Amino acid sequence: MQLKVSPSAGLKGEIEVPGDKSISHRSVMFSALSDGKNTITNFLPSEDCFRTVECFRAMGVKVNISPDKKSLAVFGEGLGGLKEPKDILYVGNSGTTIRLMLGILAGQPFQTMITGDESIKRRPMKRVVDPLRKMGAIITGKQDGNFAPLEVRGGNLSAIEYTLPVASAQVKSALMLAALFAKGTTKIIEPLPSRDHTERMFGHFGIPFTKENNIISVQTPHAASVPGFLPANIEIPGDISSASFFIVAGIIIPDSEILIKNVGLNPTRTGIIDVLCAMGANIAISNEKTLSGEPRGDIRIKTSKLKGITIGGEIIPRLIDEIPIIAIAATQAEGQTVILDAKELRVKESDRVSTICDMLKKMGAKAKETPDGMIIEGPCRLKGAEIESRGDHRIAMSAAIAGLIAKDEMVIEDTECIKTSFPGFDILLSNLLRRQPTAEFGDTV
Ligand code: S3P
Repeated sequence: MQLKVSPSAGLKGEIEVPGDKSISHRSVMFSALSDGKNTITNFLPSEDCFRTVECFRAMGVKVNISPDKKSLAVFGEGLGGLKEPKDILYVGNSGTTIRLMLGILAGQPFQTMITGDESIKRRPMKRVVDPLRKMGAIITGKQDGNFAPLEVRGGNLSAIEYTLPVASAQVKSALMLAALFAKGTTKIIEPLPSRDHTERMFGHFGIPFTKENNIISVQTPHAASVPGFLPANIEIPGDISSASFFIVAGIIIPDSEILIKNVGLNPTRTGIIDVLCAMGANIAISNEKTLSGEPRGDIRIKTSKLKGITIGGEIIPRLIDEIPIIAIAATQAEGQTVILDAKELRVKESDRVSTICDMLKKMGAKAKETPDGMIIEGPCRLKGAEIESRGDHRIAMSAAIAGLIAKDEMVIEDTECIKTSFPGFDILLSNLLRRQPTAEFGDTV
C-alpha cells in the first residue's frame, strides 16, 4: 500500500490515540496466566497485539473480542493451565510477542515452535535465549538459537541471577515471566532503567516481587511455580509512542494546537516529552491520574521553535521507539541534534539508524549515520520524496508527518506495516487536517 501526503496548514483539534502496545501485549499474557476471567478495555486492536492473542488461543486460552476489537474478555487458565499447541506459534512482526512468549514457553512442560515474519527472523533472540537456557529451558534455532524459528522445550526451571547485557524491557520481562515457573529467587539486574510495564502488571495482579534500585527479585514459594494469581481488570491508556507522531506534527507545523487525551505517562516512556521540552517545545500536561497501575493524562501541544540538543545515556531506553519521529523534529531545529548510545536502533523492525538517515537524506535534510546513532543538522526545508518504509511502521508514520511540512508531495511505499501498531493512523491524521475536504492525506492507492 502507498500513502501520499501533501503540505498541510496548521493542525487543530482534540484526538485520542489507540491503546498502548506494550501494555496490551502484557494485559493478555498476565490475564491468560491468571485464574479466571479478566476484562481488558482500550486494548490496541493492532496486528501485533492480536498475534499475542492467537498464541494464547493456540494454547487453549479462551479470548472473546468485542465487535470494535477494543475490549477483550480473557479466561485465564492459571499458571499450570496452558496446553501444548498443535501447530507452530506465529508472531508476525511482533518482537514483544516472541521475546515475552519465550519467557512463558520456557516454563511450560511441553514442546513449542515459534516463528515470525522476515523481519522477526532477522532480529536477535540470544539475549533472551541465553538466560532462559541458564534457567534450564532447552531452546534450539538458527545460529545457536539466535534467530527464529525457535523450538522450546520448557519446564523444570531454576532461578538465576542475571545482569542484562542490554537495557531491554523485552528481555527483563521474559525473565520475570519465566521466573513465575522457576524454583527459587530469580534476580534480574538492569544496566539502565527500561519500561516497567511488567513490574506494574505484577503489582496490579498482586504477584509478589521486589525492585530495589536496579535489581528485580521474583521469588517462587513452591517447588516449580508460584501458587497462582487472581484475575484483574485492566484499563489501558493511549500509547505515547503513537501520540508522538501527533506531538511532533503539532510542534513543527505552523499554526497548530492539538490536545491528545488519555495518553500513558509512565515515566519510563516519557523521554520524548523531556527531549522535546529541552528542545524548546510548548507541551502542557493536564488531567493526570493512575488507573490499572499506569499513569495517564492529556497532552496539549502548540507550534514551537526548536533548537538542536544532544540525546544520549540514560534517556535512550525511555524514548527508543520515538527516535524516528524525534529525527523529523530535529530537521526543523536550529543547530545540531546528536543522538548517541542508541545502537539498539540497529536491531529494531529495521536498522533504524540507516532507515532514518536514508529517509532524511532523500528529503534533503543533513543527516549523518554514526555507529550508535546519528547527527542531524537543522533547520531544513524538507522536500517531498519517495520513501520506502522497509516494512517498518514507525518509519512509515514518521515519513507521513514529514510530508505535512515538505515543499511538495511525499509518497510513502509499503505502508501496510502501520497496522502492526497504529490502525487508523491515516484516518486520524486526515480528520485533523484543517483544509477539508481536499484530503491532503490518506490518498491511498
Ligand atoms: C518493548 C520494549 C522495547 C521497545 C519495543 C517494545 C516492550 O524493546 O522497543 O517496541 O514492550 O517491552 P527492547 O526491550 O528490545 O528495547
